[in-house]
Amino acid sequence: MQNSKNYSHTLLREIISIGDTVIDATCGNGNDTLFMAQLIGKSGQVLAFDIQQQAINNTLTLIQQNNCDKQVSCIKDSHSNLPKYIDSDTKIKAAIFNLGYLPKSDKSIITLPKSTIAAINSIQDYLIPGGRIVIVAYYGHQNGQEELDAISTYLSQQDQQDWSVLQYQFINQKNCPPICFCLEKKQKNISSCLS
Ligand SMILES: C[S@@+](CC[C@H](N)C(=O)[O-])C[C@H]1O[C@@H](n2cnc3c(N)ncnc32)[C@H](O)[C@@H]1O
Repeated sequence: MQNSKNYSHTLLREIISIGDTVIDATCGNGNDTLFMAQLIGKSGQVLAFDIQQQAINNTLTLIQQNNCDKQVSCIKDSHSNLPKYIDSDTKIKAAIFNLGYLPKSDKSIITLPKSTIAAINSIQDYLIPGGRIVIVAYYGHQNGQEELDAISTYLSQQDQQDWSVLQYQFINQKNCPPICFCLEKKQKNISSCLS
């Protein structure tokens, strides 16, 4: 079985194609940004957000080393400000959040429930049918449980007519292994649109 991080990539790989627009909401060291940049090719776009300059620098270095600069825009701002950076008619295919702190960095700079949920909520408006928002919650740190509870409550309240919501986790492992959530926008068939 895949761990949550690998499974998050499986969920993205299944739907992302050349030319898509996608979001890395917490780019950190740039691993998810690079993964998606390689899936979308030079005709697509990754918008990569982080509030820390160190994370932006790390991501830019990784992207340049892998010759993916053309399709990546790094934005030093909170993911909750995403609407400031895209046109209102932008169609987003996928987004990923890795919640928690930047590895080997200041552990007090963490994602927070209010801005995380605001960002998920705004991406939902731009997501195309069949698109996915994948969230990997590392919750072993201080305040991590609070964020996990808030995300879990928010996701479980999504209308099942419009959204499929998945929770993937190992329930017999110690030390709070990360949990992967996926929110997929349902395709509407024509008859349900007309009724
Ligand atoms: C677990 S790390 C991300 C790891 C990254 N996905 C990678 O592959 O290396 C979480 C990141 O979220 C960032 N972050 C925290 N709050 C944020 C916010 N409101 N908007 C964007 N990024 C944020 C942190 O600075 C940190 O770099």
